[in-house]
Amino acid sequence: MQINKVMVIGAGQMGSGIAQVCAQAGYDVLLNDLKEELVEKGLAGITKNLTRSVTKGRMTDEEKQNVLGRLTATTNIQDAQNVDIVIEAAVENMDIKTKIFTQLDEITPEHTILATNTSSLPITEIAAATKRPEKVIGMHFMNPVPVMKLVEIIRGLATADEVYKAIEDMTKTLNKVPVEVEDFPGFVANRILMPMINEAVYTLYEGVSSKEEIDEVMKLGMNHPMGPLTLADFIGLDTCLYIMETLHEGFGDDKYRPCPLLRKYVKAGWLGKKTGRGFYTYEA
Ligand code: CAA
Repeated sequence: MQINKVMVIGAGQMGSGIAQVCAQAGYDVLLNDLKEELVEKGLAGITKNLTRSVTKGRMTDEEKQNVLGRLTATTNIQDAQNVDIVIEAAVENMDIKTKIFTQLDEITPEHTILATNTSSLPITEIAAATKRPEKVIGMHFMNPVPVMKLVEIIRGLATADEVYKAIEDMTKTLNKVPVEVEDFPGFVANRILMPMINEAVYTLYEGVSSKEEIDEVMKLGMNHPMGPLTLADFIGLDTCLYIMETLHEGFGDDKYRPCPLLRKYVKAGWLGKKTGRGFYTYEA
């Protein structure tokens, strides 16, 4: 299975990061979102990252221009008719994802692999919205995508071995490390990470310690690069809550119940770094 042309759907933080690493690895990339200004914002972020790499001497200006030359902005999903793989990184909502996959199944040629960067939704259910479940697979990148080495590769119930192999090989060409994971709620990364973050929120909620001290314990005591509450702000508290709810519903086990304080912050619109306020406050 030869992969040359890639479409990334969703030009947010994850989608633009995925588009960047694909273009850096030599793939021709279409970056798609609903509105032109969203794609432009994604491309501006990529340009900023590449410029930083040039300044730091990791890349020449010519290489930067070549990478940018491999990226094309589009708001027309019909452009998927020319690609070998689509990597979907739209919002974490099953209705939206199944609609996108049904549409992609109609637009793309038979050989096209349909991958999703979902952080916790069932691949098997997304695949069932298409007539090619054997070509649907999870490709879960970590944030920030250009820096983090891991990609969880999740097989749906019907994913073909040759599709798994193609995605494993592609992941290596992106200079990332693939890890094979079965399709269960939260996969591996978020099944372990999110309950830790949720427990940190409970620790704050119950007044065991302050937010700064909780973060300090995990940074200095466990060598985590960020404390769990800072990390939650960085990921987005709405995303953390959504994943906890997915785990709670998916396993039907109360050990995954989201902390009421997390719910309260999300209801208040305190979603973390992206809204300027979460557990901490941030400059615009
Ligand atoms: N995009 C591109 N590059 C970035 C970046 C971004 N958003 N953020 C940081 N970097 C780069 C910086 O440019 C810097 O590069 P240089 O070495 O060339 O200077 C490098 O990363 C280190 O950055 P900083 O020196 O500014 O800060 P740091 O040392 O604290 O590192 C960090 C930043 C890499 C984000 C680090 O704090 C870290 O690893 N944090 C934990 C991240 C994590 O756990 N991610 C997983 C989140 S969970 C997830 O993604 C799954 C999900 O489904 C929710």
